[in-house]
Amino acid sequence: MRITDTSDLWWKTGVIYCVDVETFFDSDGDGIGDLAGLAQRVDYLAELGVTCLWLMPFYPTPGRDDGYDITDFYGVDHRLGHHGDLVELIRTARDRGMRVIADLVVNHTSDRHPWFKSARSSKDSPYRDFYVWRSEPPPDTSREVVFPDQEQSIWTLDEKTGEWYLHHFYRHQPDLNVANPQVRDEIAKAIGFWLEVGLSGFRVDAVPYFLSMLGVDSKELAEFANPHEYLRALTKFMGRRCGDAVLLGEVNLPYKEQLEYFGGAEGGELTMMFDFILMQNTYLAMARQDARPLARALKDRPQTTPDCQWATFVRNHDELTLDKLSDSERQEVFDAFGADPSMQVYGRGLKRRVPPMMDGDPRRIRLMYSLLFTLPGTPVLYYGEEIGMGENLEAEGRMAVRTPMQWTADASAGFSTAPPHRLVARVTGGGYGPEHVNVAGQRRDQGSLLRFITLLTQRYRECPELGWGHYEVLSHRTPSVLAHRCTWDDASMLAVHNLSSEAVTVSLVLGDPPLGPSGETDGGWRGVVLVDLLPSGDYPEDGIPVADDGAVTVPLAGYGYAWLRIQHPAQRRLI
Ligand code: NOJ
Repeated sequence: MRITDTSDLWWKTGVIYCVDVETFFDSDGDGIGDLAGLAQRVDYLAELGVTCLWLMPFYPTPGRDDGYDITDFYGVDHRLGHHGDLVELIRTARDRGMRVIADLVVNHTSDRHPWFKSARSSKDSPYRDFYVWRSEPPPDTSREVVFPDQEQSIWTLDEKTGEWYLHHFYRHQPDLNVANPQVRDEIAKAIGFWLEVGLSGFRVDAVPYFLSMLGVDSKELAEFANPHEYLRALTKFMGRRCGDAVLLGEVNLPYKEQLEYFGGAEGGELTMMFDFILMQNTYLAMARQDARPLARALKDRPQTTPDCQWATFVRNHDELTLDKLSDSERQEVFDAFGADPSMQVYGRGLKRRVPPMMDGDPRRIRLMYSLLFTLPGTPVLYYGEEIGMGENLEAEGRMAVRTPMQWTADASAGFSTAPPHRLVARVTGGGYGPEHVNVAGQRRDQGSLLRFITLLTQRYRECPELGWGHYEVLSHRTPSVLAHRCTWDDASMLAVHNLSSEAVTVSLVLGDPPLGPSGETDGGWRGVVLVDLLPSGDYPEDGIPVADDGAVTVPLAGYGYAWLRIQHPAQRRLI
């Protein structure tokens, strides 16, 4: 690979960290996390190995969807600080080599946004067409609602004007009409504004809904033959304003459709997309202690152009959705990780974090995060994962996983100097409460999850093959083991993960020998060894020998894993 192909694609080997500003760190003692507090914790994140901060919505909001209901696309929620605090945060992060991206929520606004207030005041409002209206009573759309516990239809009657407006999410989040060129201009202006402020791109909320343009007559659509043309134009616009900015899209669709949101074989649309399919199959595989669902998902995953990237994750701020599994598969995951109905939400997901789902078993928790960092793509961590925070099942729905960050053992978790009852959200209690799980304690403990995840971020960043490379899922006869090989130029790695509680020995053939440092291919497998990158102490210090035909045997403990560099004898990589 030449520098002209690879330089500047910082997201290919990034470590993204999603943070909810209001629950991360409170600098002024009012019980609400703020931008100044987050800026104070940038060094902590830099030490963890984070290279890109993803800020959940920080815009002015009535707070009926935790900030995803916005009243001003240009503002900063005054509870969190102001534009000056945001710029300080971005500057501090940049100083530590860290970029900042933020949620771009343009599928809808809050119903308290001035545009919607005007739009619903009269059919003649200049903002009427900013939203999608219908005059005929809607058909049954109960199957299309995203939050079935709250909504029965994606259309709500506006009493005053006697028409129905579209909202895929809550009724207080009317969908914007992207077919309207004025709306598209407003979206572009908001993007342009935040890029000037210093953001390096956006996590784009609800992309397929945003582009669906439902309810709009074809005349207005004429400018774009299909929604992908519009997405392509938007991406181009962003690229002109800021060449290295990214669009990380939320597109929870089958792989074939996801590929279209990358722009198909040519690219040019979203830069990155969360891999929901892989995430869901990871849980299915963990539940079954059988790696085959995971292997199948990896094999099915379409190849992207080099400028695009998959974002891998095992937890985010929403329900842990299992909607792309079959009913019986989903039930298997529920049975394994959240059998009690209080742990489930919307009939499709779980409101739990990883450690409680794994019954607190450190081997399984580490296995999960080892997978996260070796599944090809760019890993995304959700705040608190690095210390193994749990959830608060008493909190409503998805709020269960949006509890204050646990910095110390005190009752307000070191998140705030305000007393617990004055915090923006209740601190998690019980065995995952701050007295048991907190940053301060784990920083002092060499064997902590925090230390382990820091090691993973470091190794991930040192292994270009994980972010950049191509991968192969290797065949073998041990169903509980996922074995995959990632290769990029002369860097090649074997990752093996045993999803079963039983120790196993996996025998496999590695395929082509690795290249030497100058690209040499002679020598075959002679002198090649597998070097433990973590290192576990389970393998010989001078490496596991590889046979002349590329065959190798790797023992793995129950829930064991290994990152093994396939090392050419002349290789001079650090590890
Ligand atoms: C997806 C976000 O992740 C979720 O939290 C939000 O409720 C919906 N989009 C609506 O914006």
